Amino acid sequence: MAKERIDKILSNQNIATRSEAKAMIKKGLVFADGIMVKRPDEKFDPDLSEIMVDGRRLNFKRHLYIMMNKPSGVLSASRDSRTRTVIDLLPEELKRDGLFPAGRLDKDTEGFILITDDGELAHKMLSPKSHVYKLYEAECDRTLTQGDVRAFSQGIRCGEIDFLPAEMKITGEKTALVEICEGKFHQIKKMFHSVGAEVVKLKRLRIGEVFLDGALRPGQSRELTYNEIKAIISRKHGI
Ligand code: URA
Repeated sequence: MAKERIDKILSNQNIATRSEAKAMIKKGLVFADGIMVKRPDEKFDPDLSEIMVDGRRLNFKRHLYIMMNKPSGVLSASRDSRTRTVIDLLPEELKRDGLFPAGRLDKDTEGFILITDDGELAHKMLSPKSHVYKLYEAECDRTLTQGDVRAFSQGIRCGEIDFLPAEMKITGEKTALVEICEGKFHQIKKMFHSVGAEVVKLKRLRIGEVFLDGALRPGQSRELTYNEIKAIISRKHGI
């Protein structure tokens, strides 16, 4: 990876602002590979160099991968002038330039949203060619039937749009789990609408093989573990 200015590395890693980083360097608190850094424009490869800040080793992360339990009423966007976004909800320690939600959940949809600054992984997760399945829990306005399950399993046509066959499992009179790998606009709502049911509540429970952490209350988030980052682009599926 290319070398970057030390003050930029420290600010991108949320260690300090650019001006705080400059002040730390001036005070002699920043070392790279055992040598004191003298100027904020000195460049290092953070993947290769050992950087110490005020006696503590920098745990460099090229990218961040964050699981959020998105609440209803919040936009899956980076910023919006009027409505709160998932990025606005991040705690200070997880904020960094370049973060975006990988994919969209509707404003009223809850559950697992991945927030990252890794465009490559986001593309792999979202591309229909990757066959990464997402599991949703839907509540509808009418009793669900085995006829609905069959219709979903055969693939649904909604106007001009075709949705691939999807597995549905009825879990209550009006509730079901549905697994899809496409992610077209309002897909789950449109699929139910095509069989004459309206979705009144929708929550995403899983992406790839990674389940929403039950300990996260709506609006809370945490970093994914190394194993979860790998498992999020898994093609495994089945309810
Ligand atoms: N399908 C929908 O209809 N809405 C979402 O937010 C996600 C999937």
